[in-house]
Amino acid sequence: MAEPVPIPKQELASKLVQEIAKKGDEIPEKYLHKNGFPEAIEAPDLWRNNLLIDFSLLSSSASELEKLRSALSEWGCFQVINHGIESSFLEELIEVSKQFFALPLEEKLKCSAADDIFQGYGNDMVYAGDQTVNWNDRLFLTLYPDDKRQLQFWPTKPDKFRGMIDEYSKKLATIVEAIYKAMARSLNLDEDCFLKHQGKRGPITGRFSLYPRCPCPESVLGVKPHSDGTTMTFLLPEKEVDGLQVLKDDCWYKVPDIPGALFVNFGDLGEVMTNGEFKSVMHRVVTNAAKDRISVAAFCTPADEKEIGAVSELVGIHQPQMYKRFNIHDFRRMFFESYAQGRRTIDALKL
Ligand code: OGA
Ligand code: NI
Repeated sequence: MAEPVPIPKQELASKLVQEIAKKGDEIPEKYLHKNGFPEAIEAPDLWRNNLLIDFSLLSSSASELEKLRSALSEWGCFQVINHGIESSFLEELIEVSKQFFALPLEEKLKCSAADDIFQGYGNDMVYAGDQTVNWNDRLFLTLYPDDKRQLQFWPTKPDKFRGMIDEYSKKLATIVEAIYKAMARSLNLDEDCFLKHQGKRGPITGRFSLYPRCPCPESVLGVKPHSDGTTMTFLLPEKEVDGLQVLKDDCWYKVPDIPGALFVNFGDLGEVMTNGEFKSVMHRVVTNAAKDRISVAAFCTPADEKEIGAVSELVGIHQPQMYKRFNIHDFRRMFFESYAQGRRTIDALKL
């Protein structure tokens, strides 16, 4: 299996989408989906009802728990409101992320990692072959636990950025824990069942993405269709700039902007952990010609030393184990190769 290789620093500048977009030349072939891609539909009622979870009700309301269970079983995603993080804080986090990407190239390159594809400023590596490439640049940072942070890649500008990332990480870690517990309760399991599987120190990695405006949105994707290599992902999208879409039953749905909400989706490791009970949702990001778009994704994965597999409570005579057991290191290698080639890792893990 090919190992992912980071892009050498000296080559990075010419590969950054922001730099390509700035030049305004024709878009290089490798970004073009020549046959286009299917349109998405809007379903505002769905996102305001079945797929909208009120975090503040999860500890007291059986019907809210049932809504959570059904959203994750049928869709693998939802939006969450009343999670305790102020909208003004979330808007400011998007704003400082935007300011980071607006810094001069040399300043941003200080945050790039020479030999780690999971840290720092840059964009996703390309495997040998002719895959279509995503139209985005990103800053990857381990956010949690604190002692796994690699601060040498954390921006020092804008001034507020580090402090805000720190605060966001702490707030998120609390929400993540509460959601794992609610998920377990929604399936009538011991509330620590998923937390134990993740380990208290299950890392959270932040991905701050910039999707520059694109002159050719009908054939360029910000992110190709994929499912995440996570247990669960929290996404903060920029308001009023569409982009994220999810797939269900062969139909793409636009994810609408809901004030103050975070978008939460299940990933492949979550589907494996729940033995297929909760779904890892396919999603993609489209581009637009009018506006740059920023998003902040937080990827939750199990602690490194954990073996990954279905929790025993969800395996039985009526629910045979659906996926292999594996360790996170093997998974990561498989994931990034499949991701680049537009395949789903979870399909290769089926028993
Ligand atoms: C991802 C992703 C969505 C977005 O980074 O895995 O799906 O809106 N991002 O940035
Ligand atoms: Ni994703």
